[in-house]
Amino acid sequence: MTTRNKSMFTIGKAGAAAMICALALLMGCEKQSADGPILIKFPHVTAPATPKGQAAERFKQVVDERLAGRVMVEVYPSAQLMSDDDSLDGLAFGEVQMIAISLSKLDRLTHKFQLFDLPFLFPDLQAVEKFQASDNGQELLTSIVDRKILGLSFWHNGMKQFGGPKPMRTPEAAAGLKFRIMESDVLQAQILQIGGNPQKMAFGEVYQALQTGAVDAQENTWSNIYSSKFYEVQAHVTETNHGYLGYLVAVNPDFWNALPDDIRVELTAIVQEVSAWANEQSAGINLAGKEKIIASGRTELTELTPEERAVWQQAMRPVWEKFSDVIGADAIAAAEAVGQSAE
Ligand code: SIN
Repeated sequence: MTTRNKSMFTIGKAGAAAMICALALLMGCEKQSADGPILIKFPHVTAPATPKGQAAERFKQVVDERLAGRVMVEVYPSAQLMSDDDSLDGLAFGEVQMIAISLSKLDRLTHKFQLFDLPFLFPDLQAVEKFQASDNGQELLTSIVDRKILGLSFWHNGMKQFGGPKPMRTPEAAAGLKFRIMESDVLQAQILQIGGNPQKMAFGEVYQALQTGAVDAQENTWSNIYSSKFYEVQAHVTETNHGYLGYLVAVNPDFWNALPDDIRVELTAIVQEVSAWANEQSAGINLAGKEKIIASGRTELTELTPEERAVWQQAMRPVWEKFSDVIGADAIAAAEAVGQSAE
């Protein structure tokens, strides 16, 4: 029997896997490590050289070193195995064991993470990190366990920039443009607020959509714009730093709780160590992406003055009010206060 066949959590289509997983849980999954390494399939959608790609590889390396023969991690970058949407189902049904999904894409399941999409709520990654470490931030990790998603940690990508056919020094320049966005109602409202036309679309489709003109513009981090080559098919990037792109590192709670205690403890420690390492790397990876884009000469960079950025901030602020009932005015105020104290 191959290692893969021995793992009760990785076989077959989602429905079959769910049934097998339920059966395995009844029989006592703690016995699985006696039969061979526990397999953790970890699909994600970005390139290996991105903050998430590097973090996933580091996780695999450290598990290989510290849990050799007991746990085996298979990382599938660049949406090789599945899209983000499919990975949410795949995790819930036990087809994959670990994901690191953009917080924006959890909007399909819950409104609890919408806060992270509010434009200009967090001035920088330090502010986000402080909020994520606070009680409010940590509570989010376990907030969707009933959807079979248990958060273990947060990983940063970085702050988002606007790319498109022309410089966007003012929000007026965005009016009428079709913007690809992630699957988030807050991001949709953000683009509508500046007179753009938002198009929710999977990450893997963005390059072609820009190339064919199906969309005119997009928002993403420097590392994603570089590694997915969006800079080859858009003439300008305006450095707005208007929003945060980060990930929930999550497992299926049934899978996780059925692990032998010592393995779960070690994996928890590894995730924490890798998260600290990854979150320190992310700003540098984004800066390197920005520099390579500028060096390519394929995309023109527009940097905003503080006054121009303040105009953008003002123009997008009504999005906060639109979502304050759902997200909670208190939660928004708490996040804003944490952000300001981190400055
Ligand atoms: C990601 O960074 O995981 C993808 C973000 C996107 O869909 O734009």
